[in-house]
Amino acid sequence: MQSNSDNKLNHLCKLTATGEKIVMLTCYDATFAKLMELAGIDVLLVGDSLGMVLQGAENTLNVSMHHMTYHTKSVAAGAPNTLIVADMPLGSYEHDNEAALKNAQWLIKSGASMVKFEGGGQRVETARYLVSHGVPVCAHLGFTPQSVNQLGGYKIQGKTEESANKIINDAKAMDDAGVSMIVLEMVPATLAAQITKRIKAPTIGIGAGVDCSGQVLVLQDLIGVYTGPANKAPSDFKLPRFVRNFLKDNDSIQEAVAAYCKAVKDQSFPAKEHSY
Ligand code: KIV
Repeated sequence: MQSNSDNKLNHLCKLTATGEKIVMLTCYDATFAKLMELAGIDVLLVGDSLGMVLQGAENTLNVSMHHMTYHTKSVAAGAPNTLIVADMPLGSYEHDNEAALKNAQWLIKSGASMVKFEGGGQRVETARYLVSHGVPVCAHLGFTPQSVNQLGGYKIQGKTEESANKIINDAKAMDDAGVSMIVLEMVPATLAAQITKRIKAPTIGIGAGVDCSGQVLVLQDLIGVYTGPANKAPSDFKLPRFVRNFLKDNDSIQEAVAAYCKAVKDQSFPAKEHSY
């Protein structure tokens, strides 16, 4: 008998096989999860961006497994029929594979069908280990917010030949390790298109151009309510260029989410002005 989780993963496989664009959106609670399921979102991401958009922090570095499991349970309660991907927070997967598996299984028991973690290189073996133990994995390459200090701020990645090749090689290695999806954040659209063509797993772009297999946005960006960290004036905050406010031209949040779904499916979003 097929489990509900298998059915959700089958939906992703179907979209990948037919080439229909995959629509992903972050979500952190049951009310929005229910609304997003009704609006037709394919995948909900319980992102560690909750450290910024819910907790008001400047980055995602202080998000814990307790935060992630709490919000994953809430989202799963609101959207029982939608594929949920949960982020593994900083410190929950890098030390050793056993700890990574234990934390990944905690997220799965909380209602996620897949876990996401950041980075290539050594993380490829972590992905292979989790996949071999039955945990579906989404990789996250390009700009990786948990490494914001190491990367020297919110910067586009893959601009030089050397860094573009590293992202391509990491994507291929993650694909070979059996990941189910790869998020590409803030990379040139041409690089994301090249990666998408060369691997089996679907790519999900955020600031990565229209040629990815799908797109993801942060809910608070999509409805235009995020104005930066809690301790900073909104005037000190500059929205990234990949953000579009879908509530502007719609009368309700559910309509705005549905408009986002439509725009991703018909490839009118992201436009050139949202890409690098
Ligand atoms: O945490 C998050 O919201 C994410 C997206 C930006 C992809 O990882």
